[in-house]
Amino acid sequence: MQKIILSAVLAAGLLPVSARADLPVYLDRSKPIEERVEDALSRMTLEEKVALCHAQSKFSSAGVRRLGIPEVWLSDGPHGVRAEFNWDNWDYANWTNDSCTVFPALTALAATWNPELSALYGKSVGEEARYREKDILLGPGVNISRTPLNGRNFEYMGEDPYLAGEMAVPYIQELQKNGVAACVKHFALNNQEKWRDNVNVKVSDRALYEIYLPAFKRAVQEGKAWSVMGAYNRVWDEHCCHNARLLNDILRGEWGFDGAVVSDWGATHDTKQAALNGLDIEMGSYTDGLATESMYGYDAFYLATPYLEMIKRGEIPESTVDDKARNILRLIFRTAMNTDKPFGSMTTPEHYAAAKQVAVEAIVLLKNNGLLPLDPAKYDNVLVVGENAVRILSDGGGSSELKAKDMFTPLEAIRETYGNGVKFAEGYRTGRPFFGWEEIIPDEILDSLHNEAVELAKKADVVIYIGGLNKNGFQECESTDRREYNLPWNQDKLIEDLVAVNPNLVVANISGNAYAMPWVDKVPAILQSWYLGTMIGPSMADVISGKANPSGKLPFSFPKRLEDNGAHHFGEISYPGIEIPGKGPQQEYLEDIFVGYRWHDTKKIPALFPFGHGLSYTTFKYGKAALSSKEMSDNGTITVTVPVINTGDVDGKETVQLYIQDEKSSLPRPVKELKGFRKIHLAPGQTTEVSFSITPDDLKFFDDSKHEWIAEPGKFKAMIGASSTDIRSTVRFSYK
Ligand code: NOJ
Repeated sequence: MQKIILSAVLAAGLLPVSARADLPVYLDRSKPIEERVEDALSRMTLEEKVALCHAQSKFSSAGVRRLGIPEVWLSDGPHGVRAEFNWDNWDYANWTNDSCTVFPALTALAATWNPELSALYGKSVGEEARYREKDILLGPGVNISRTPLNGRNFEYMGEDPYLAGEMAVPYIQELQKNGVAACVKHFALNNQEKWRDNVNVKVSDRALYEIYLPAFKRAVQEGKAWSVMGAYNRVWDEHCCHNARLLNDILRGEWGFDGAVVSDWGATHDTKQAALNGLDIEMGSYTDGLATESMYGYDAFYLATPYLEMIKRGEIPESTVDDKARNILRLIFRTAMNTDKPFGSMTTPEHYAAAKQVAVEAIVLLKNNGLLPLDPAKYDNVLVVGENAVRILSDGGGSSELKAKDMFTPLEAIRETYGNGVKFAEGYRTGRPFFGWEEIIPDEILDSLHNEAVELAKKADVVIYIGGLNKNGFQECESTDRREYNLPWNQDKLIEDLVAVNPNLVVANISGNAYAMPWVDKVPAILQSWYLGTMIGPSMADVISGKANPSGKLPFSFPKRLEDNGAHHFGEISYPGIEIPGKGPQQEYLEDIFVGYRWHDTKKIPALFPFGHGLSYTTFKYGKAALSSKEMSDNGTITVTVPVINTGDVDGKETVQLYIQDEKSSLPRPVKELKGFRKIHLAPGQTTEVSFSITPDDLKFFDDSKHEWIAEPGKFKAMIGASSTDIRSTVRFSYK
């Protein structure tokens, strides 16, 4: 209440002029934020400072009521604003005004390879968060997709740190213009859900700095994210939420982060460590393990009374709480107390349009022998098979579950495009989305659904298969990883049987992860769709019918077999880790810096579909790349330029990718690494020149013995490609 009154009064300028002159410094918006923070801090009691540092409900933390400093309201995140919860437990509050636009999940956003869309996405989801009076939106997630079994990859932005960073920065910048803080998560190395609470990750500094940290660093330094979420897992024997090296040394020390570190829910384990090692706001703990959550007292959190008492006893310096309070006050001034923030809006036509634009550009055409697009004028006997054609995919998945105001399903949209005569067969059934367990569907039901689909397929002109994964436990859901790399529920057999009776089969699967495709050679056309949110149906129908030309590119590799992925190559110690009695699960990232395409390339293990791959209904021809200079000096920049022409019959978008190869280096390096990309739009016959600037920074690797980024003199290649393996032109230059 106080929040509303104070902000409203200030915003409306209702305070009389004389009163304004007397405004305390912390309320005076003309004063620099640091002065306001210090002023507020100087007025606070120790108890008030400690009260800032922990939750007061499931999704809020306290302000300073006496001073009119509002509380902080948080919400998941990351691809929409989650429904409201009860104050004290995990039951939805059942409000009637909290349904939202479901934006495409972040893997889909990454698959657009379009930072402008990322900005539009951040702006739109930020407006929804603002309208719902949220101060922190819990996202984006920028953990690297290390293994396709990770149940949460769909919430992240793929396997490449450059792509993830490039897409995260505009999202954060535009989101925060709404006075809503991004909370970049999960910091760090939370790359699997199995044993997420205590798996202890060992990773080399090279892999840490080159692969797992860069997107976080850019989110903080370029995106200027106002908050970061500490992850559940352990790194070097210390939980991430109070990990001295991650939070004190790297996040604050090396990167200069001035926002607030928020714990993941229940990820705090120790008062002293949390006090000393950089955590600011503790959320979601249930420390005594006895009380039910709704009876649980927030005062017993690690950063609540136990912290206060330890400070009073002199066991922890008071300066620790001053530092935390500063970070939290800064956050509050930027968000809840920002009187310039806009009003926000929910489920507007603009948000639906933005969600659709992202969704359309995210869909990846993996393979096409000419069957696609399916011209609606030519097909009137269409069969759709697959549960995902009708399933509400915003349900499930854990904390990213959203209450959709609308979900336009693929089947509805395909019927709108091809007429109401479109037939549908479920083909398989998976049960309701439960957290951590699965509903078992009896075999008789599954068999009859399978047979029905195959029978109907015999009579159809064309079959559109819409299956894949969903947000059930052990699929793509928080707290569990997938159990297998193949598609579940006998879908491989179903696809094989469908294509055996009807060769006109389009597979248009939905997932946030790669999966095996034993049927890949038999199926003539394959589209990869994602959790595309509210506009999933219309977006898929537009691409299938050719109304929209697909332009998505894979943000991660699709290995042929799970063993072809670097994390899985080394067996259990590398994934999921090995349980050691008394020490918990221990894990070593033995593939080191060779994650995703870096592994496939370097070990010469071709992926089924490589990172960066994605076809179009038109064709693009790349000319010869040219360099502005064949030599780069220390501070110099060189430019590589390549002409690209649309040689087909329809408008299309192409993502031109720049990879750099260091021909010889003192430490092992990947064959190539993504260092730039541009998404261009070309009409048939149109040509454009695409240029990239290359600087010494693009040539560097992290030398862990010196703890320094180094560009070694020598020869480099700039490779211009339509994917990480489809390199169209290469030029060489030297660096001295
Ligand atoms: C746990 C999840 O890991 C995190 O991403 C989420 O924001 C919180 N729960 C709150 O729901």
